[in-house]
Amino acid sequence: MVETVLKKHPQTGDLPVEMLSVGQARAELAWLASALGSANTAYHRDDAPNLSDADYDALKQRNTAIEERFPQIKRTDSPSDVVGGEISEGFGKVRHAVRMLSLGNAFSDADVFAFDAGIRKYLGLDATAPLTYTAEPKIDGLSLSLRYEGGKLVQAATRGDGSIGENVTANALTVSDVPQVITGAPEILEVRGEVYMSHSDFANLNKRQVEKGGKTFANPRNAAAGSLRQLDAEITKARPLKFFAYAWGDHSAPLAQTQSAAIEHLSALGFSTNKLTVKCDGPDAMITQYSKIGEQRADLGYDIDGVVYKVDDLALQARLGFRSTTPRWAIAHKFPAELAWTVLEDIDIQVGRTGALSPVARLRPVTVGGVVVSNATLHNEDYIKGLDGNGAPIRGGKDIRIGDWVQVYRAGDVIPKVADVDLARRPDDSVVYEFPQQCPECHSDAIREEGDAVRRCSGGIICPAQAVEKLKHFVSRAAFDIEGLGAKQVEQFYTDGWIATPADIFTLRTRFGEGLQQLKNREGWGDKSASSLFDAIDDKRRIGLARLIFSLGIRHVGENSAALLANHYTSWAAFEAAMTAATFDTGPEWDDLISIDGVGDVMATSVVTTFHQDAERASIDRLVAELDVQDAKVMVSDSPVAGKTVVFTGTLERMTRAEAKARAEALGAKVSGSVSAKTDILVAGPGAGSKAKKAADLGVQKMDEDDWLALIGAL
Ligand code: IVH
Repeated sequence: MVETVLKKHPQTGDLPVEMLSVGQARAELAWLASALGSANTAYHRDDAPNLSDADYDALKQRNTAIEERFPQIKRTDSPSDVVGGEISEGFGKVRHAVRMLSLGNAFSDADVFAFDAGIRKYLGLDATAPLTYTAEPKIDGLSLSLRYEGGKLVQAATRGDGSIGENVTANALTVSDVPQVITGAPEILEVRGEVYMSHSDFANLNKRQVEKGGKTFANPRNAAAGSLRQLDAEITKARPLKFFAYAWGDHSAPLAQTQSAAIEHLSALGFSTNKLTVKCDGPDAMITQYSKIGEQRADLGYDIDGVVYKVDDLALQARLGFRSTTPRWAIAHKFPAELAWTVLEDIDIQVGRTGALSPVARLRPVTVGGVVVSNATLHNEDYIKGLDGNGAPIRGGKDIRIGDWVQVYRAGDVIPKVADVDLARRPDDSVVYEFPQQCPECHSDAIREEGDAVRRCSGGIICPAQAVEKLKHFVSRAAFDIEGLGAKQVEQFYTDGWIATPADIFTLRTRFGEGLQQLKNREGWGDKSASSLFDAIDDKRRIGLARLIFSLGIRHVGENSAALLANHYTSWAAFEAAMTAATFDTGPEWDDLISIDGVGDVMATSVVTTFHQDAERASIDRLVAELDVQDAKVMVSDSPVAGKTVVFTGTLERMTRAEAKARAEALGAKVSGSVSAKTDILVAGPGAGSKAKKAADLGVQKMDEDDWLALIGAL
C-alpha cells in the first residue's frame, strides 16, 4: 500500500519561517528531506503518487524558504538539489551525457513577471529591450531521452535522478511516435520530450484492464509511466503511448539558432511537436497564452499541467545556463491543481426525473483547480462499493465510507467526482455504506433491474422528487420554455401546492382567479408579472408535436428521439393511438415503432410503458386536453437547412451550444466547429471573432440567432 506523506511538519509546519529557531529549522529540513524523498520515490519509481502535485509543490517551497533563511544548515541531501526519483532495479542504467533537468515553477502572474525581470537583470537588458520567449503546453507524462547516432535510435532512457536513468530502449522502439531512423540530423543527437497517453487511450486501457481483471491506473500519467517502464517490451507495445519532442541533450551540431526553429527542425525530422507552441514578446503575452491554453485544456484530449516558457534565442539560453537542477532560461507556469483530498462528510441521495437514485458526496469544502468544491458525484451504488458496471473492481476494490478521506477530481466544467479513497486515514469506527433500498423522498421501493447500474424509485408520479424533476424538465428550454416559469418557480409552485403535474400549469389562470391575490402578494410578483406569466403560459398552448413528446420526460426519449417519433407519426392522435394499441415485443404497432431508424427496443419499451401506466397516462391526457398540438410538418429532407453545413460562433443567448447543435442536426444540417469553403451558414452571436471574419472573407451567409430560429421555424 502507498505510504501517506503528511502535508506539513506536525509541530512546526504552521509556523512562519521567520519564527523558527535554528533547531526547529534543522528538524523540519530533515523531515522535509525524508517526506519529499518518499514522495519522489512513490511518484517516479513506483508510479503511485502519495501526495498531490499542489501539496508536493507546497512542501518544496517550504523547504526552499527555510534554506534561504538558514543557508548554513542546508542539508547535503537537500531536496532542492534532487531531480526526480530513484531508479528501479529492473532496468539497465544509463548515464546521461547531458543531465536531464527539471523546471522551476511559477504559480502566479507575479512569478512570471519576476522570471522575466530576473532574466533581464542577469543579461543586463533593460525593461524595454526586445526579448522573445516561447510558450508551450507542459505535458503531464514522463520525460524520455532518445539518443540517435548516425540517424539511428541507439538508446532511450528515462530521466531517473537526472544523471542516471533507466534504459528503456526496447520499449521506446514500440512507440509509434518515436522514429527509429531520422535523416538529415546531426551525427549525434539526443531528442528529449514527454511520453504520454491520450484520455481516450487511457479510458480504453483501463477498460481492457478491468475486462481481464488487471490493475487499473489512477490517471493517464501513471498509465504512461507504468506502460513505458515494463520489463517486457511486448506489454509496452500493446499500450498506446505517444511522444512530444520539446528539447534536446547531447548534440554534435546545433539544430538552429532559436528554440522555435529547433522545434521546427525536430518536426521536420519526423518528431511530433506540440502545435500549441507560440512565440511571445514578454510576460503579458505569455500570461495571455497561459489563459488561452488553460481554456483549451479540457478539450486537448491529453493531460497538461501548465505552460512552459523558454527564452527563444539559444545564444541567450547558453548565457543564462542552469542553477543546480533547473535552467535559468525556462520556467513552468503551473495550472492550479485539479485534484484534492478532503473528508466525505455525508452521502445524499438525489432522485431524478426518471426515479434514478444518484448518490452525491457532501464534502468538507476544498479548493480543486481554483474552485471550491463541496459536492461531487459518486455515480451509483456499485461505484461506492468499488465495483464497475460489470462487477469488476475499480480503485483496487476499495469501498467508500462516510468519514473517509477521499480524492476529488475536477476536469474542466464537468461535475467533480470522487476518484479515490485513502484507507490509511479511514476512521476505526467507520461502517460500510448501505445504499438505500427505499426512495428517500416517497419511501416507495427502490428497485434495481438486472443489467441496470442504477437503482430507481418505483413511486412514479406519486414521488415528489420525480414530480418536481419532471415539471422542471417540462418547462426547460428545449421543452415548453415558458417565460417567467423556470426551475425555481416550478419548485416553489409545487411546494405551495399550485401545480403537481404539467396540466396544472395550464389551469393556473382559471383556478387562481381569486388566488391570483396570493401570487401577487408573494415577493417578486406584482399584478403585471402574474398576468404576464399567465399570458406566457397561454402562448405555449400551441405546441409542435416533437416538442410535446420531448416535454413528457419519457426515459430514453431525448430531443432527437422525440423528433424521430414526431416525424414518423406526424400527429398526436396517430401517435397516441399507436402507443395505446401497442403491445410489448410483438404486433403491428410495436413493429412499426421499432422500424423507425434510431428507435430500439429500450426506447420503445419505455414509451409504450409510459402510455400503459394509468397515472402517467391520465396525466398526459389531462395535459393534451389543454393544448393545441401542431402536426409535425418538417420532415428532415424538407427542412430549409437539410444538408447544409452550419457553424455557430459567439455567444448564443437563447440556447446552449449543445442544444443548438442537436436541433440543427435533427433538421438534417451538419454542424461544424470551423469555417471553411464548405460552410453554408454562419450563425453569429455577440462576441463572434475570427470565425465571423473568415466567413465574411469566404462570402458565407451570416445570420444572428433570431434569424436562425426563424429559418428553422423555432421562433
Ligand atoms: S523543457 C531543461 N518542456 O516537465 C528543461 N519540459 O517539471 C527541459 N515537461 O522534466 C524540460 N512538458 O518532463 C519542457 N514542454 C515541455 C514540457 C516539459 C513537460 C516536463 C519534463 C520536465 C518536467 C519539469
